[in-house]
Amino acid sequence: MQLPVILGIESSCDDTAAAVIRGNEVLSSVSFAQTVHQTFGGVVPELASRAHITGILPVVEQALLQANISKSEVQGIAVTQGPGLAGSLCVGLNFAKSLSQAWAKPLIGVNHLKAHVLAHFLADSQPDGSIPKLPFLCLTVSGGHTMIVLVEDGYQFTILGKTQDDAAGEAYDKCGKLIGLPYPAGVEIDKLAKEGNPHAFPFGKPKMQGFEFSFSGLKTSVLYKIQAETKVNPNFIEENLNDLCASIQHSINTILIETFYKAWDTHPVSYVGIAGGVSANTDLRKRFMLEAEKRNIQGFIPKFGYTTDNAAMIAIAGKIQWDTHAESPIALSPKPKFPISE
Ligand code: KG4
Ligand code: ZN
Repeated sequence: MQLPVILGIESSCDDTAAAVIRGNEVLSSVSFAQTVHQTFGGVVPELASRAHITGILPVVEQALLQANISKSEVQGIAVTQGPGLAGSLCVGLNFAKSLSQAWAKPLIGVNHLKAHVLAHFLADSQPDGSIPKLPFLCLTVSGGHTMIVLVEDGYQFTILGKTQDDAAGEAYDKCGKLIGLPYPAGVEIDKLAKEGNPHAFPFGKPKMQGFEFSFSGLKTSVLYKIQAETKVNPNFIEENLNDLCASIQHSINTILIETFYKAWDTHPVSYVGIAGGVSANTDLRKRFMLEAEKRNIQGFIPKFGYTTDNAAMIAIAGKIQWDTHAESPIALSPKPKFPISE
C-alpha cells in the first residue's frame, strides 16, 4: 500500500514552518523562527503576519526540496486553522488554499493543539521509533495553553482540566520578565535553574478544584518576594538568579506534575505524554518520566524539535484526518480560538 505524502504548513504564532511526511515518516521539517519580536518582550501580531508573508514561500520550497518531493507526489496540504493569531493564521491558510487550488490537491485544516498532541505519532518522535497507543493521556503545555487531554479511539479528544488564568509557558515568561530575563524566558530559566536550589524560595501552590491549573498566584508571590528583597538589597536578583530560576521552575513543574497525575488516577491509561513548548523543560521531562515509571506505565516526550511549534505535527494531524477523508472546503476560515474538542 502506498503511504500518503502530506505537506504541512504552520503559521499560528511566530514560527513560519513547513514539513513533508510520508505515512508517519518525516521527510523534511523546516522552521523559520521570527526574531523581530525580541525587543518587544512578546509577540507583536502585526509584525508576525508580515514576517510570515516574507517567510512562507522560501520555507515551503525548502521543505519540498529537502524531502525531494515534487508537487505531483503531494496528496494533501495540511494547514493550521487555529488557535493562534488571526493575521498569522490568514497568511498560512491563504497560502495553503492557493497551493491547493493551483495543484488540485485536497486542503486539510488542522487544530494546532491537537497537532501538538499528535506529534507523538511521528515515526521519529522517540529514539526507538515507538508511538503511543490509545487511550493516551497528554499534558499540553505551551505559551498559550495548559491542559490535560484524553485521546481515545478514533482520535476523540476530551479536556479533563485546563488553566484558569495564565498558561504554563506564560508563567515561565512572566516570572522571567520579573527577574529581568528576555522573552521568551522559559529556555533561559531552564538553563540557569541547573545551577540553583529549587527549594531556596518556596512560592506555594494554588488550591484548585478537579484538574484545573492556576499560575497567577505564583507570579504574584514572585513579584512580592522580589519587591520585598530588593528594598533591603538592590542586588538581590543578580545575587540569587540561579536560585530564583530553580525555585520558579520547581513551583511551575510541581503544579503541572501533581495535577496531571491526579487526573491519571481517575483515568489510569497505559500511555501518557507531554506536548508543547514547555515540554522542552529539562526538569519537567525528568520528573514526568519518573512518575510514569513509578506507575509502571509508558511515558512519551517528543524529541526537542517536535516540542515547540513545527509543521511536522501539522502534517501528521492532517494525515490522520486525510485517512478519514476529512477534507476542508476552500472557504475555510481561521479560528483564532479553535477549541481542541472540536
Ligand atoms: O508551543 P510553543 O512553542 O508555542 C506556543 O505557545 O504555541 O511554546 C512556547 C512556550 C514559551 O512560553 C517558552 O518560554 C516555553 O514554551 N518554553 C520553555 C522551554 N522552552 C520553551 N519553558 C520552559 N523550559 C524550556 N526549556
Ligand atoms: Zn504551539
